[in-house]
Amino acid sequence: MTDQKPLGEEIDFEPDVDPTDPAPKPGADLGGLSLIVDDVHVTYRVYGGRRAAASGDELSVVRRLLNRTNRHIGAVTEVKAIRGVSFVARHGEAIGIVGRNGSGKSTLLRAVAGLLPLSGGTVYISGEASLLGVNAALMKDLTGERNIMIGGLALGLTATEVRERYDEIVEFSGIGDAVNLPMKAYSSGMGARLRFAISSAARPDVLMVDEALATGDAEFRARSKQRIDEIREQAGTIFLVSHSLAAVRSMCSRVLWIDKGKLRMDGPVDEVCDAYQEFTRPRRPAR
Ligand SMILES: Nc1ncnc2c1ncn2[C@@H]1O[C@H](COP(=O)(O)OP(=O)(O)O)[C@@H](O)[C@H]1O
Ligand SMILES: [Mg+2]
Repeated sequence: MTDQKPLGEEIDFEPDVDPTDPAPKPGADLGGLSLIVDDVHVTYRVYGGRRAAASGDELSVVRRLLNRTNRHIGAVTEVKAIRGVSFVARHGEAIGIVGRNGSGKSTLLRAVAGLLPLSGGTVYISGEASLLGVNAALMKDLTGERNIMIGGLALGLTATEVRERYDEIVEFSGIGDAVNLPMKAYSSGMGARLRFAISSAARPDVLMVDEALATGDAEFRARSKQRIDEIREQAGTIFLVSHSLAAVRSMCSRVLWIDKGKLRMDGPVDEVCDAYQEFTRPRRPAR
């Protein structure tokens, strides 16, 4: 027996590196791919759950150990939000993510963006990822203007770059003079539009948009589509989580359907949207 394999019989994806090297870091060369997500798991720990607290004694020692340093009385409940998701993304792709509420879409984006620790698997990203989800990064008590600065800095722009792009961001968002008001005075649509304007202004390599586009009017959606196309042309990759299948269909080329933390389907936009639509279609009760 020999380890040698006939040429062409098996494609060898092993990178030619010392196995003791650390995993590729952001900015790594992924051979033309922008992102590799390999068997990713994310588990949340929720403290103070009821279910285990009411159960048998064998947990109590562990519970006491776990709770030694704080005053949680209940148990630790694990929520396995992402359970073994794998896919690769290429430069220039716009990928929609659909799935029912609680299926793990936001968790997946946050994990890929490096904002959440993985409980298993690996994410390789070539370049910088930026995620400004509906709840991320911006501060309600500050004005839109301050948030543009903070959001821009959080995305890796310099203060000068943010100032250069300030007018463009305000104009893109369409919020007008409201930029001088604290964001808590904004409607959810205004907030979402400003978030999208900020996060896309940085022209990141991987742009992740979580539920920001469904709220805009037709004109804003057209601007957004143009911005997304621009980023794709510059070889960026976009992930778009949206309740609006219309937005996903018009802006994406490919769709991932996440269900109960697993990848249920990954394919061309119409194929997956049709299947998902059929799946979620309200059915009349059988008579
Ligand atoms: N911070 C958190 N702590 C504990 N559980 C969470 C947290 N965020 C989300 N979850 C749970 O993880 C699962 C996936 O949630 P999420 O990623 O927000 O889904 P989606 O974005 O598809 O609606 C849900 O069961 C949700 O309750
Ligand atoms: Mg979500």
